[in-house]
Amino acid sequence: MRFASDGVVLGKDAKLVAVRGIEIGTGSNIHGGSLIAACALGCLKGSGTNPDGKVKLGQQCVIHHGAVVASYGGDISIGNNVSVNPYTVIYGHGGLVIGENTRIAAHCVIVPSNHNYQDAGVLIADQGLSTKGISIGSDCWIAAGVKILDGVHIGNGCVIGAGSVVTKDIPEWSVAVGAPAKVIKDRKS
Ligand SMILES: CC(C)(COP(=O)(O)OP(=O)(O)OC[C@H]1O[C@@H](n2cnc3c(N)ncnc32)[C@H](O)[C@@H]1OP(=O)(O)O)[C@@H](O)C(=O)NCCC(=O)NCCS
Repeated sequence: MRFASDGVVLGKDAKLVAVRGIEIGTGSNIHGGSLIAACALGCLKGSGTNPDGKVKLGQQCVIHHGAVVASYGGDISIGNNVSVNPYTVIYGHGGLVIGENTRIAAHCVIVPSNHNYQDAGVLIADQGLSTKGISIGSDCWIAAGVKILDGVHIGNGCVIGAGSVVTKDIPEWSVAVGAPAKVIKDRKS
């Protein structure tokens, strides 16, 4: 693993897979029971697995128990001082960028890909994926149970309400709620 420097706390049973594709900044805390993989979950052969994509965590990040961060062939870039709470799942397929100081609550799912399903005569599992990428700005609060779909860009300073499904871009400083998520407030007004 390419730590930025010493001072990263790894919980006793935190699992790191394909460590050559993982970079973790100083002061970050990877809690026991979490998983960080620079590959797909189907390739969990262990720390020496060849990376397929990258996972880069900034400084002072916290990955809580039960959270999963897996690159799936794309690059995940998480800024400084970001927390990812228990049982949140973050994948990297088409690329994922999360700005600094952002809070991601428990049980969120952020996956930058979709299964192709257009041909009803072929198994969905055999039709491959489309990938666009997701970005989440700095100083955002993604509340409990939020789902963020591929292609979505969430601006700086946004609050996404609990249980929301974000299907379209959210402008900066917005409070957005619901499924599909709609803007209900502008934090600057
Ligand atoms: C998004 C949130 C912060 C908004 O709080 P707020 O600014 O005080 O907003 P309000 O309570 O005034 O709600 C405004 C409207 O949005 C609706 N609303 C609020 N949160 C909603 C949500 N998550 N989903 C759907 N609708 C929501 C309210 O019912 C209200 O509708 P109305 O005007 O028709 O009555 C809050 O509702 C929320 O979801 N908090 C997340 C809590 C959480 O996940 N905590 C753990 C993680 S750390």
